Amino acid sequence: MVRFSDRANNIQPTGVRRMFDMAGDDAVQFGLGEPDFQPPEIAIKAFTRAMEDGKNKYTTTAGLPALRQKIAETWHHLSPSLDESNVCMTMSGTNALLDVFLALLNPGDEILLPEPYFPLYPTDAVICGGNPILYPCLFQNGFVPTIKDLENLVNENTVAILYNFPSNPTGGNVTSDQRDELVDFAQKNDLWIVTDEVYDRIVYDTEHVSFLGAGYDKVIMINSFSKTFAMTGWRIGYILSENDEAMGHITKMQYYVTACSNDAMQYAVLEAMENASDYPAQMCEEFKARRDLICDRLNAMPGVSCHVPTGAFYVFPKVEVPGMNSEEIAMALLKGGVLCSPGSAFGEAGEGHLRFAYTIGREDISRGMDRVENILANLRGD
Ligand SMILES: Cc1ncc(COP(=O)(O)O)c(C=O)c1O
Repeated sequence: MVRFSDRANNIQPTGVRRMFDMAGDDAVQFGLGEPDFQPPEIAIKAFTRAMEDGKNKYTTTAGLPALRQKIAETWHHLSPSLDESNVCMTMSGTNALLDVFLALLNPGDEILLPEPYFPLYPTDAVICGGNPILYPCLFQNGFVPTIKDLENLVNENTVAILYNFPSNPTGGNVTSDQRDELVDFAQKNDLWIVTDEVYDRIVYDTEHVSFLGAGYDKVIMINSFSKTFAMTGWRIGYILSENDEAMGHITKMQYYVTACSNDAMQYAVLEAMENASDYPAQMCEEFKARRDLICDRLNAMPGVSCHVPTGAFYVFPKVEVPGMNSEEIAMALLKGGVLCSPGSAFGEAGEGHLRFAYTIGREDISRGMDRVENILANLRGD
């Protein structure tokens, strides 16, 4: 008899991945969120050089000290005393998330998670024995939670709240006043803040607003170089916290999850940080032009309304077609040659929306939007 864990039996592939697997080659791809750029050339060269120089071994669990120190310094404007001991390298944001949940959650503990959510959050919480409790981030509130919504969900079992700004899938972002209120809420209820800031370098018209350095010492940041340097396939990220005790436990978890990050790659990322620090800003210029294009096109379509995001590379418009839910609309678009993700793939609060990742060139965006316009007009009978 073959037998698998309840965990394995109960976990499903994400809706985003299911749609991606169904798409034909000629579909315009607004599906997966990964930059269509290559990593900085100097980082690729440094990676090769490091391998040739013999950097092909295990590193310490927390990673290369010079890289961790460099990362700590990039956050000195918010927290000047940070140093390498406050940083643990991981093999991606995905790896970082698991380490942090493993370090914080006991069976029965509740963690407040945003909905619509990055699909790994609730499942990772369950894998780690926790109980995910979803708080709404709604279109009408700019995809930022209200304190009242949060207060209704917190109880004696709640140990942590995860914030994700800029957000995947909504592109929602916080002002510093909103951030202060969200920090106050966590502090009043003695909750850990897990702040997923993997899009901290993909922001437009504004400075990134971090939860670090906001005057609360129970903050743990998850970050990644996937989006910052367009290296999704390299798999490298980090965890950063001012809280030494948290870093100790998290680093222990990292040891049991992957032992350490990739040796040579850490030299490549250090090179990118030192000598290609303006690379994300260059990508952002292009992303911003794409954002403007896709928002203009979507907002001109009957039945569609799209918030203009100030970060990440997703739009999450409300799309109304009478009698159809978001999955049915996404399937109809897929048949017509456009891959996007149904809002319901990110939780019930995403119903009524579609997610488009604008990680393709402007010509392709225009071609895709022509198709969306025609298909929606046909479905709506406009
Ligand atoms: C909000 C968010 N967090 C974390 C990740 C994980 O990124 P990675 O595992 O590539 O570092 C992603 C990737 O799409 C994301 O959108």
